Amino acid sequence: MQWLITIAIVLASLALVVFKFWRFWLEFSGLWSSDRSDQEASRSSKPSCYGCSGTGTSESDLGIRIKPLVQLGGKTQRALVANFFLHTAIGGVVYGQEIRPPNYDESIASKYKLGSVLAGPQGQLIESKDQWPGHRQYLLDLFADQEYGYAPQASVDVRFEVLDDGQAVLAGELKPGIRRRQIAVYLERNGKQVRIDLLVWSPTDGPKAPCFLGLNFRGNQSTCDDPKVRLTSSWCDSRNPGVVENRATEESRANQSERWPIARILEGGFAVATAHYSDIDPDYDDGFENGVHGLFPEHRSDSEHPNRWGSIAAWAWGLSRLADVLEKLEGIDPKGLMVVGHSRLGKTALWAGATDERFGLVVSNNSGCGGAALSQRVYGESVARINTSFPHWFNRNFRKYNDREDQMLFDQHQLIAAIAPRPVYIASASNDKWADPLGELLSGHYASSAYRLHGKQGLDAQVLPAVNTPIGDGAIGYHLRQGDHDLLEYDWQQFMVFARRNGF
Ligand code: GCU
Repeated sequence: MQWLITIAIVLASLALVVFKFWRFWLEFSGLWSSDRSDQEASRSSKPSCYGCSGTGTSESDLGIRIKPLVQLGGKTQRALVANFFLHTAIGGVVYGQEIRPPNYDESIASKYKLGSVLAGPQGQLIESKDQWPGHRQYLLDLFADQEYGYAPQASVDVRFEVLDDGQAVLAGELKPGIRRRQIAVYLERNGKQVRIDLLVWSPTDGPKAPCFLGLNFRGNQSTCDDPKVRLTSSWCDSRNPGVVENRATEESRANQSERWPIARILEGGFAVATAHYSDIDPDYDDGFENGVHGLFPEHRSDSEHPNRWGSIAAWAWGLSRLADVLEKLEGIDPKGLMVVGHSRLGKTALWAGATDERFGLVVSNNSGCGGAALSQRVYGESVARINTSFPHWFNRNFRKYNDREDQMLFDQHQLIAAIAPRPVYIASASNDKWADPLGELLSGHYASSAYRLHGKQGLDAQVLPAVNTPIGDGAIGYHLRQGDHDLLEYDWQQFMVFARRNGF
């Protein structure tokens, strides 16, 4: 069907070009009166705007004088401009049609070729863990250059202010064992400031707790029903409930609380911290003007700098700034920081975990394309699809691989490897074909040699396990939760088991 539409558009476009040349020829040979419509217009008492010759202005029905935006000369010139726009539009539609429909055929998906995660730029394999720091840097450069973009080298001043320190009220009940802190984190540079609202839940007593840190999609107020949690003032997607003109309202309170089972996480002996991803960078294509991108105008991504940071790299960099604060916070174990994220924020958690070794454990939930899933399988969401729908997430170099995944000299298993030897957990959901659950598992599998190099166990499995049956006894864990693309208590329970087993 799509092909038929494309062919129809191409034929219509060709017919138009032929007509244009035919008319052009007639005009030249005087057979077509180029003044025809002007004559008609002059017969009418109301001058038409673009028909007003000489003065460059005309009067509307209301008698207001209108100045044309562009002064256009003869009919041929006008036709050329109109046709330019028409063809640009047609080109856009044709281009849009060209994105291949998603592939869900395993016999096609399995035709990928991956390099070893231990292979360097010339294909030589590293053999000992002494070579790891240099090799890890090579992997990070590869992903910064080709996919996510480099964050700036320059630093910002990080200041924080505890605005609220009280006891949690969850599901209408005061929770004496749970401490709620709301912290304004200020990032400052050259007179500009970005503020991130960090919400931290930690045990009231006892030793310093290991802490999960993850960004949320809709503002801190959406993660719980505690009425004291402040409403986000950052940009929100108006398609989400409780959002009016891109601003959160009271209606949005607790509307993603199923993703943040705070009381259960605290019962497990962990702290949990979150912030709205929009505080770091609003999730729309704004030319990298807003959020933390705006603190570094000299480091903006553009066609001349195709390897500078996109939004995923900005969110990951923001997670590191939150780690700057968490590692100083009373009651939080600075050696127990773990980064977690769902979907686009799962991609973000992987990149944050790869780049910042203070995250001692990394969790990717349903992260899919550009996250844990192998791009070269082209199963579900493709590189072209993600770069078209979300042009601001990755750097410009990544667009080279639109419909050319087979030309990629790297893949997401190397991103997982860049986290080694720190433990990584990859979670998928059975109905989330778009994110390619098998591709997510295989990244973990193929990353395993980087873990074995460090004397750790990786992930042996190469086929999906049964639903709700976590696998991986070593430093790479995996589960396929039954159900949809989401982050649920079941997922958190497995993250906690994995974290405990790995010493957190
Ligand atoms: C879209 C996108 C995914 C992304 C997801 C999300 O579905 O295609 O790549 O993971 O949004 O972040 O919710």
